[in-house]
Amino acid sequence: MTIEIIDYAVNSSFDNYVSLQINGKAYLFHLVYLRDNCTDKKSFHDETHQRLVDIFNDIDLESDLNGAVDIEKGELVVKWRDGAVSRFTEQWLLRHAYYPADVVEPNEHVQFPEKITWGRTKFDSLIQNGQHFKNDYQHLQDPSVKKNIFQEIYQYGFTLIQNVPVSIEATKQVSELISIIRPTHYDTGVWDFTSDLAKKDTAYTSLAIDMHTDGNYWYETPGLQLFHLLFHDGEGGETRICDVARVLELIKARAAEDESWQETLDILTKQPIEFHQSGEPENVFVENRFPILQIDDDGNLVQCRWNTSDRSSMMKNAKYPVNKIYLAMSRFNELINDTVNYVRFPLAPGTIFVFDNWRVLHARTAFNGKRRLCGSYLTRDDFIARFRSLLFDREQWLNSV
Ligand SMILES: [Fe+2]
Repeated sequence: MTIEIIDYAVNSSFDNYVSLQINGKAYLFHLVYLRDNCTDKKSFHDETHQRLVDIFNDIDLESDLNGAVDIEKGELVVKWRDGAVSRFTEQWLLRHAYYPADVVEPNEHVQFPEKITWGRTKFDSLIQNGQHFKNDYQHLQDPSVKKNIFQEIYQYGFTLIQNVPVSIEATKQVSELISIIRPTHYDTGVWDFTSDLAKKDTAYTSLAIDMHTDGNYWYETPGLQLFHLLFHDGEGGETRICDVARVLELIKARAAEDESWQETLDILTKQPIEFHQSGEPENVFVENRFPILQIDDDGNLVQCRWNTSDRSSMMKNAKYPVNKIYLAMSRFNELINDTVNYVRFPLAPGTIFVFDNWRVLHARTAFNGKRRLCGSYLTRDDFIARFRSLLFDREQWLNSV
């Protein structure tokens, strides 16, 4: 590789830059960026991979974002005015280049797998081909089984783990394999309930529950949920699930051809909806900052919040006509309850069903008889961190941050 300095400008602190030619291509780095990301031992901790120098508090931004630049032994060297010296290898510069931000060294090796959306037909074919959702509790410690559990949850939004002992202990063990149990006012560990209305929530009855995500009245909604049916001697109580990532695709396709659906898409992705939990006087929760569908800059689903039982009566923060908001919610509701978009199956003792609470809606049909269900809420960040560690070598990942 070859590296040379082609331009160097000292204007004012935040405008100073150096232009480099690396392998015949020009890249620009601001000196404020180089100072902030200096990798020498005084500035960066080798083991924690954290900054040791706080550029905003430890550096004089008026004078210390300036220095002499040179190439020494194929590395960019900046000798700052305060005496500090920074060195940057060509590899580091190419990996971190932002002007232009082309990926010189492909980061494919640290890409998470693509998400795969599904409706009923796709779901049935996945189940029928026998290759998916067959994780066995007996082989939980097998690295390939463990990785597959994470991969299926990430890609499809759910998975099944079979042959699990019908116990709270085994449910806890599987929960803790996947992530960290998120404590709530309902329970601090694995929850375990029958239809005794022990908590003032419809979940603690035998009534049917419509499609929903849990915890919409919280800022920190549970990332994943895990269900394990321990006992049922009656009928009903089947689970229905729907992939909202798929439903979003359908809405976007309609929006591309129909202005009214474009407005529906705008409302679902931009209009904050208020949810509340008010059944217990000491546990009242209200959250009103998020739309039903949070999407990223590419239009992909980040998080769905939906539960018409918990939806507040308040419409004071309506950015769109209220009747259009109702039309959008009605259209969304119709799609998630369309038989082509959801699947229905019974839970069974010994099979754990775990799903992405930000992506997959769940519902329950009414039931009779005695029914005991246990499960857990799991944190999303820890699930992602563990999946990352299963997918990539630490060095691979560190090279990309
Ligand atoms: Fe729920």
